[in-house]
Amino acid sequence: MTSKIKIQLYNNDCLSVLKELKDESIDLILTDPPYNLGKFMKDRQTNLKKMRENFFGEAGWDDLEYLEWKNHMDSFFEEANRVLKKRGSMIIFMSLMKIETIVELASKHKFYYKTTGVWHKTNPMPRNMNLHFINSTEGWIYFVNKGKTGTFNNKGKAIHDFIETSVIRGNEKKYGIHPTQKPEVLFEHFVNLLSNENDVILDPFMGSGTAGIVSKRLNRNFVGCEIDKEYFKIATNRIEETLEQQIAIDLD
Ligand SMILES: C[S@@+](CC[C@H](N)C(=O)[O-])C[C@H]1O[C@@H](n2cnc3c(N)ncnc32)[C@H](O)[C@@H]1O
Repeated sequence: MTSKIKIQLYNNDCLSVLKELKDESIDLILTDPPYNLGKFMKDRQTNLKKMRENFFGEAGWDDLEYLEWKNHMDSFFEEANRVLKKRGSMIIFMSLMKIETIVELASKHKFYYKTTGVWHKTNPMPRNMNLHFINSTEGWIYFVNKGKTGTFNNKGKAIHDFIETSVIRGNEKKYGIHPTQKPEVLFEHFVNLLSNENDVILDPFMGSGTAGIVSKRLNRNFVGCEIDKEYFKIATNRIEETLEQQIAIDLD
């Protein structure tokens, strides 16, 4: 049985949850926070809302003013530095426009900057393809906490700072759609590389719970926070289903 894995899910503001976590209790933070693009896109009056029923700029969770968002991320990194173990790793997904802000804030809180990488979506929606470049990339930034190197399970292979996957597949939307849901295979890449079995993974902005499903599947403990009730429900349902599947597999 692999039932010793612990999953803790909180329908709450991550800063309140992080304040309750013990110092140096987390091995890897893998997260995809708001990119502070919703307001920017709304202000430019793009017609994305009309084109996409599920446009995240209208969802209400990414519409802070830049300085409000920056202050929130500043407080987040302060707590992240405290709860992450010495030499624990952190991957933050971010729009390429905001990478510099994240590096500045995390460095202020003693994170050691390692890499800026790119996730390329092989099949993005070709919106306005005759007007401009199709938006098919997002950035991710890799840091190590209070040290310069951490777990890096490359197994002798050269790992590039670039990962290419398709967007989420149909069965990953089974419990509802999150407008910026990440593919499971993308998060698996980082969990395998930057953590070991039985480690504790934290996603403070878990949305539909992708990091939780992947952690459970790869035998890692998981702590996840999501402020929105509906997304939290999607995450709980997705993760509970994988727990049941896991138990069924274990009993066979
Ligand atoms: C970019 S999405 C994450 C998507 C996720 N990676 C997935 O695969 O579904 C960011 C999420 O953070 C949540 N959020 C925003 N502010 C938060 C806060 N202070 N505490 C917890 N969750 C928050 C939003 O509701 C949103 O679902």
